[in-house]
Amino acid sequence: MPELTGLLPELEVIRKDFPILERELADGKRLVYLDSANTSQKPQCVIDAMVDHLERHNANVARAMHQLGAESSEAFEAARDTVAAFLNAPSRDEVIFTKNASEALNLVANTLMWATGELAIGAGDEIVITEMEHHSNIVPWQLLAERKGATLRWFGLTDEGELDLSNIDELITERTKVVSLTWVSNMLGTINPVADIARRAHEVGAIVVVDASQAAPQLPVDVVASGADLLAFTGHKVVGPTGIGVLWGRREILEKLPPFLGGGEMIETVRMEGSTYAGIPHKFEAGTPPIVEAVGLGAALQYLSSIGLEAIHAHEQAITGYALEGLRSVPGMRVLGPLDPTRRGGAISFELDGVHPHDIAQVLDSRGIAVRAGHHCARPAHARFGVQSSTRMSSYLYTTPAEIDTLIEGLEYTRSYFKVG
Ligand code: ALA
Repeated sequence: MPELTGLLPELEVIRKDFPILERELADGKRLVYLDSANTSQKPQCVIDAMVDHLERHNANVARAMHQLGAESSEAFEAARDTVAAFLNAPSRDEVIFTKNASEALNLVANTLMWATGELAIGAGDEIVITEMEHHSNIVPWQLLAERKGATLRWFGLTDEGELDLSNIDELITERTKVVSLTWVSNMLGTINPVADIARRAHEVGAIVVVDASQAAPQLPVDVVASGADLLAFTGHKVVGPTGIGVLWGRREILEKLPPFLGGGEMIETVRMEGSTYAGIPHKFEAGTPPIVEAVGLGAALQYLSSIGLEAIHAHEQAITGYALEGLRSVPGMRVLGPLDPTRRGGAISFELDGVHPHDIAQVLDSRGIAVRAGHHCARPAHARFGVQSSTRMSSYLYTTPAEIDTLIEGLEYTRSYFKVG
């Protein structure tokens, strides 16, 4: 293994926590999983926590008046405590469980659509996003702007794949009601200066929404230090299960937003003439929530915290630096996004001259290497760089330098297979 500083010292032990990494694929190929920005793999402790809940404690929460109901409610609410601690949230009530990050962002955009008073959005108001957003942080704002007659504006990107902040004072003005941006780009890998942008947004009284889907897995996320008013992430990218996401919001904002979905457990009273609503977080959690998924998410965040987000971040940076170096050695390679590993996360999108991304992914897959090919739900960012799609490798806490070597060999093989260069 090459000498790299920053790698997790217990890497081989960590890998053993993830049973899927032992998988053999077709033709006896060993899995090289480089698609963690798409979804992360799950450690045994998460799988066990979910199985144990289903085997021993399964019951509905907050409405089952029996022992199992109490146990299930306790496990569900303990997961909320874990999320609050993970985010350094001032209050557990500020943590809302959703289906995923997309639902969390749609919750914000929709409830703002119906908001009255100081959060109301109307004609003449502006919403500012960026050109590097995932579609989940573009489309809800487009819908809000269209439906309320507001204007959607956005930060452009530099050639290096960073936010172009040169016109920040023209973009964020007294008309701005919302600034919504990704902390870490899922396509370019760029880490954005969220706290600086939040400071400027707060100067004009705008609220700041942060999509932390790619940040939460690999950076220490402190919601207070981030400057966010609302922040979303998803469970399945932080070694937790699918089917659960989180919206954190500052109490003052959440209390002013109207309910999102109507149904059981989000009410205070219901009469045929009208209803009143529960306080936060329950106001935003209509219906039976994703209970076992919350338990799994709690176990996942405890697992990541036991390793340490600083250490995971250092590992990601070491692997990313090593991968960027390796990719540079491949003729015809163009990396999209920052080339400095300290300015980016562990997702690296690239183009290989003369070979379509889908063909690259297929050849790599035939060698056991899993990457993502396509537009990664970030079409505008691709358009900015004049490409329809790209190939993306994304690492995580279990990725080894040897796996990056296998990727680079696979890319060399792809070039020879397609006879390019
Ligand atoms: N799953 C999406 C990705 O691959 C968000 O980036």
